[in-house]
Amino acid sequence: MAKASNNFTCSACAAVYSKWSGRCDGCGDWNTIIEEKPLSKSGPSKKTLGGMRGKKVPLTDLSTKEAPPPRTVCGMGELDRVLGGGLVPASAILVGGDPGIGKSTLMLQAAARFAQAGLKTVYVSGEESSAQVRMRAQRLGLGDAPVKLAAETNLRDILTTLEAEEPDLVVIDSIQTMWADNVESAPGSVSQVRAAAHEIVTFAKSRNVAVIIVGHVTKDGQLAGPRVVEHMVDTVLYFEGERGHHFRLLRAVKNRFGPAQEIGVFEMTGDGLCEVTNPSALFLSERDKPTAGSVVFAGIEGTRPVLVEFQALVAPSPNAQARRTVVGWDGGRLSMILAVLESRCGIPFAGLDVYLNVAGGMKVSEPAADLAVAAALLSAREDVAIPKDCVVFGELSLSGGLRPVNQTENRLKEAQKLGFSSAIAPSRSKAGDGSGMQIRYMDDLVSFVGEVFAAG
Ligand code: TYD
Ligand code: MG
Repeated sequence: MAKASNNFTCSACAAVYSKWSGRCDGCGDWNTIIEEKPLSKSGPSKKTLGGMRGKKVPLTDLSTKEAPPPRTVCGMGELDRVLGGGLVPASAILVGGDPGIGKSTLMLQAAARFAQAGLKTVYVSGEESSAQVRMRAQRLGLGDAPVKLAAETNLRDILTTLEAEEPDLVVIDSIQTMWADNVESAPGSVSQVRAAAHEIVTFAKSRNVAVIIVGHVTKDGQLAGPRVVEHMVDTVLYFEGERGHHFRLLRAVKNRFGPAQEIGVFEMTGDGLCEVTNPSALFLSERDKPTAGSVVFAGIEGTRPVLVEFQALVAPSPNAQARRTVVGWDGGRLSMILAVLESRCGIPFAGLDVYLNVAGGMKVSEPAADLAVAAALLSAREDVAIPKDCVVFGELSLSGGLRPVNQTENRLKEAQKLGFSSAIAPSRSKAGDGSGMQIRYMDDLVSFVGEVFAAG
């Protein structure tokens, strides 16, 4: 019997099958299994590539005499910074975010600004009609920006149009609505998104056009066409925000032309998205008097210091299984800190419900926030307020020791700028902070508890 050939591969997770099926057992995606054509039997399939003559590719040195291409600055400082200091020509940018978060609004504003800055800009909407986009532009006061509009989903037609138009910047809103007619599956499916993104990025690179591709995040937190688009583009930005809040964060998770983790902060208003140039002031809620459970963390987001407020609530639990609820921080890390408090400092949280919230809808991922979280939990549990003018930062190790964090000086400077006069920081982060703040250095969590909560 002839040996079954494993010629079917899942385009999302690369699992290999001997026959086609509608759903990949590996990743659970539908319509992702495609047949890979075998190399011809008679030809060179048995030989390795190294044994065959190919064409010689030119090799170059790393040193270059060419100046780096000029970036275009759109004037929305928050966007320019997240891009790494403006738009790089011929770069491909993915902007992901939940449906309704404001991606189209941001992109329309950005397109208008880039067009006003001199880039020939085309905005392709696959979701709204031209009339709808025009109406939105009018409402945002961008009616006379020199942006060319198209409402189209057929990728072949779009690329043909762009070829004739020769723009500098194209916005594709959104990749899930694009339809490449050489791929037999519905728009939004993994293979379509993958094929469409590939076509667009290839076109952009060969024609020296910058593209911004908008992609909706699906419920499970991944862009439809999981990861397929992320690796193809130069820059991946996520537009985040809580539904109930007006603040929106544009976060660079990958950037070939600038620092990752950089954030831009915007506020959604009736007139579109406005820049927030001093986010620290925004993330600190009204803090008139010291409150137990509230601690200000001096954090760093990308290259910028940002102050955020952690709020904790600790209450006796009516249930056998106490609750642990976290908003804006990692739940696993909360468990770790509770465990460290219990085993290193002898402060148990068993039988107590614990709620932890980052004010203002901000999400914090820095380990440097550990000490601020521990402080908020202790402050809530002991009902002892941390002084109102004090910021806290430091990473906790499982032994209960405090580890120094980076950019101590920037954190302190930002705190001082916002009217804070004291700080609690890990001991070894002392080096050269001439900030004029009163700083208490701690070695470990035990001494922190002893000094700060001694009276409690
Ligand atoms: P939109 O940009 O359409 O979201 P996305 O493209 O990410 O799906 O924005 C949708 C929301 O933004 C909508 O609920 C209304 C709100 N919005 C404002 O509050 N102000 C405005 O000026 C605009 C244009 C939208
Ligand atoms: Mg939209």
